[in-house]
This record gives sequence, structure tokens and C-alpha cells, in this order.
Amino acid sequence: MPDKNFYITTSIAYANAAPHMGHAYEAFLADAIARYKRMEGFDVFFLTGTDEHGVKISRAAERGGLGPQAFVDKNAKEFADFYASLGVSYNEFIRTSDKEWHWPGANALWKKLSDAGDIYKSKYVGLYCIGCESFITPKDLTEGLCPNHNTAPEKIEEENWFFRLSKYAEQVKALIQNDELRIVPETRKHEILSLFNEAVPDISFSRPEGIIPWGVPVPGDAGQVMYVWCDALANYISALGYGSGDEEKFSKFWPADVHVIGKDILRFHALFWPAMLLSAGLSLPREILVHGFITSEGKKMSKSIGNIIDPKEYIEKHGQNALRGYFARDISPFEDGDFTEAKFLESYNANLANGLGNLVSRVVKMAADYFGGDIKHHPEIGAPLKRRFETASGTEDVDGSPLPFVVSSEILPKYREHMDNYEIHKAAETVWGLMKRMDGYVTDYEPYRLIKTDKDKTEAVLWNLLYGIHHVAIMLYPMMPDASDKIREIVGAKILENGEPESFAVKPVSSPLFPRK
Ligand code: MSP
Repeated sequence: MPDKNFYITTSIAYANAAPHMGHAYEAFLADAIARYKRMEGFDVFFLTGTDEHGVKISRAAERGGLGPQAFVDKNAKEFADFYASLGVSYNEFIRTSDKEWHWPGANALWKKLSDAGDIYKSKYVGLYCIGCESFITPKDLTEGLCPNHNTAPEKIEEENWFFRLSKYAEQVKALIQNDELRIVPETRKHEILSLFNEAVPDISFSRPEGIIPWGVPVPGDAGQVMYVWCDALANYISALGYGSGDEEKFSKFWPADVHVIGKDILRFHALFWPAMLLSAGLSLPREILVHGFITSEGKKMSKSIGNIIDPKEYIEKHGQNALRGYFARDISPFEDGDFTEAKFLESYNANLANGLGNLVSRVVKMAADYFGGDIKHHPEIGAPLKRRFETASGTEDVDGSPLPFVVSSEILPKYREHMDNYEIHKAAETVWGLMKRMDGYVTDYEPYRLIKTDKDKTEAVLWNLLYGIHHVAIMLYPMMPDASDKIREIVGAKILENGEPESFAVKPVSSPLFPRK
């Protein structure tokens, strides 16, 4: 039997502030994939959560005047509430301050690395960027500042536990090269492979407890806490019960099918994490999907530029469908994508209000007005309907392609191919392509005119259109689950045993699905 389990994760967001557009996009992307896989019959486990340790969080907690636990409790709740408002269908929300699940997992993993002889004590002298939560070297700096955060790194000189990353570099490189650990897209694969052009050093894997008291204590050394990335990466297995005694979920779902991450944390996921797993004798994830950054007017969103767009505000004002629709249609998962209010509103009006919303309301209105909402399966369906063309010498009837045929032979296979390749934007384009065909279909058959002369044929035309809308709604489910549910409810397909719609009991729409803005 083929393995029909599918384990997908997002990265875990730092719980030091409210969720931003980047978090919203990543959660959307992973959710769209998770929902698609469920639709395809997979038993999906979708994990998200919050990263709650490290210097950044302990300092932010101090500034906020709360103890670190109260501080992360508050922020973790904000993330969970936010994901709910975005319609993110995660199965588990892991928190790294969770002592019941996460800590035993992180401890068990540390012990494995230690038993393998890959953990040793040494002195670290160097630089640390708190924004990145990463040890960095002078050559990573631009004019003395971290290029990602524009801040000066801290100088550190301390005794730490080290992990023998160097020992696994060649092996990780080979696994990435031959796609046993697939990095998507290709450009990111090349980027990570270029890291191996230089010698990969061992890395410091702990910090003195006296300096950062907030973290997971190193097993057997209460004077040190784990380096935040060592602790955080373990979430992908601790959430499955690894190290907690009940490893049923772990054996069912590990290795992960795909870790969804942003481009700035590739090195941690495609180098540190595989090396840790190799050292512990665990299987490697199959894929790492690396998305780009959401920018605003082409610039990184930042407080100093003042171009931060708050996703919570957008959901409150425009709803989850509008935001998810923009992410799906207008942003390629593999590149940076721009978000401005003007672009968002333009896309909303063109594609949701005028496109999808208008198509649904026109067809639904005709079905209600002409047939009281009941559109029966029609004998002409399946055979091409004749459609009338104006020609120079008068009119001519020619065969039009029936929508069910177009959907099954052309649209669905293309849609699946794109979704399987995580090309959500292209899958969306395919769905909008079908809508365009349907608009053309209405223009060709003019059901609003046809009803005066041929009621039977009008019913067949509307059946075809409802068939198309039903499938549009299904294909949109991963991207806009709420809109999909609403449209399927309105269209009211009666489904046959083979999964195909037979008849439709259309419900009138009281307010527009996507009011113009
Ligand atoms: N805590 C770490 C991840 C640990 S995973 C074991 C972290 N957290 S983060 O909050 O800084 O970032 C969370 C995710 O958001 C990352 O995948 C990151 O790349 C992504 N993004 C952060 N800013 C972003 C944009 N502006 N646009 C898109 N995604 C971006 O890193």
C-alpha cells in the first residue's frame, strides 16, 4: 500500500511580537498544501507553533515588564488566534516552552547527539546577532552591522557545548545534491550547495545559563541552556511525541514530507537540522519548501521605513478569503511577493468581486429566476451543445465544448500538476482560466435570451455552468476554504456515487460574496 500519510510543518515563529505578513503567508502556504493533500485522500498531520526561547525573547520579556513565561503565553495565544482567523487548519500547535512534550523531545535528541560523540565542550569567541539568533562571522557583516537586522552583533567569549557539524557536511551535501533531501525551488538548492564551497565549522550549541536563563537546560549540565536553534528544530519531532514515551505518532508521520520555511532560515533547516538527524540516526525530511519574502513596494517591511502592513487588520476589514485570495493568485511561493493596499484592492475587485463573485451571482440568479433554483441533469449533457455563431452570411450552429469535458480533460489535470509542485499561483491561474471560459460560455449561449425560445437547452446551459462553478469551488478549497464552502452551499450539488454532481438545488444569495471595495 502506498504511504498515504503526509506530514507538513511551518517554521515556528518567535513569540516576541504579534504575527506579521510573513507569518501569515507561510501559514497560508502550508495550509493550502495541507488542505489539498487531505482532499487527495492523504492522512495529513499539519504542525505549526511558536519558538519561545532565546535572547531575543528573554530581552523583549524584560522590556515588557512581564516574566518570560507570561510574555510568551500572551504572544503564543495571539499567534493561535491569528491562525484561526486566517483559517489555518493545523493539527497541532507546539510551543517550545512546553515541558510535557517539547522538552523531553529536545532532551532526547541532545542525548542522542551526545551519545554519538558529537557534542563537546569548547570556548566560543566571536559574534552573535540577536535578531538572527545566530553566531556570525565578521565577513557576514556590512559595515560592522548584521545585513538582515542593521544592528551590531554582540561580542561573546564563553565556554559552550559544540556540535560536530563539520563531521556531517559531506554527507548532507551529497543528500541535497542527489535530491534525497529535496530543496524546492532549484535556486535555493544551488544556494545551499554553495555553502559547502568553504569548510563547514562546528557550531556552538549552548549558552551559559547565567547569560540566558530562559531556555531548555542542557541534560547533565545545569550551567548551560541549549542554543535556541538546537531547541527549536527539535519541535518537528517533539510534537510527534519523540522522547515523551508515546511515539506512535512519531513512527506514523516521521520523516516529514515537507518543512515550509522562509528563505532566511534555509541554512538552519538544510544544514544544521539534517546533520542533527544524521547524528541521532533518524530519517531526514523529504523536502524543504523555501518561500520568498513579502515586501511592500519592493522593500522589506520594517518599522523604520514605516511600511509594515498588519495582516490582522486586513482580515478584520476584508475577511480571510480576500487575504488568502491575494496570497494564492498574486504571490509566487518561490519568489518575493509584493503587498500594498492598492495592489490588494485592485486584485480583490478584479478577481474576487468582478470575477468569481460576479460569475456565481449571475448564474445563481438565472437558475433561481428561470427554474426556481432546481436544475436537473439534462440528457444533452455530455454531448456538445450547439451554439449559434454570427457569420457574414447569417448564423451558423457549431459544436461548443461541454464544460464537464473541459474540466476533466484539461483543467483538473493541470490544476493537480501545479498543486503537486506547490505552484499555488499557477493552480489559481488555472482556476481563473476556467472562470474565463465560463464567462465566454455565457456570452456564447446567452441563456438570458435562450430562455425565451428553448427552456430545455437553457437548463442544460445552466447545468453546465453550475457544474463548472462547483468544480471551481472544489479547486479553490485549499486556497480559500471559507469561500469554497459558501459557494458549494449556494450551488447545492446533489452528488452521485461516482463523486460527480447530478442535479443542483441552488439557494438564492442574499448578500454579495465579494462586495466591491
Ligand atoms: N523561530 C525561527 C524559526 C524556527 S523553525 C525551527 C524564526 N522565526 S521568525 O518568526 O523570525 O520567522 C518565521 C517564519 O517567517 C520564517 O520562515 C521566516 O522566513 C518567515 N518570514 C519572516 N519575515 C518574512 C517576510 N517578510 N515574508 C515572508 N516570510 C518571512 O525564524
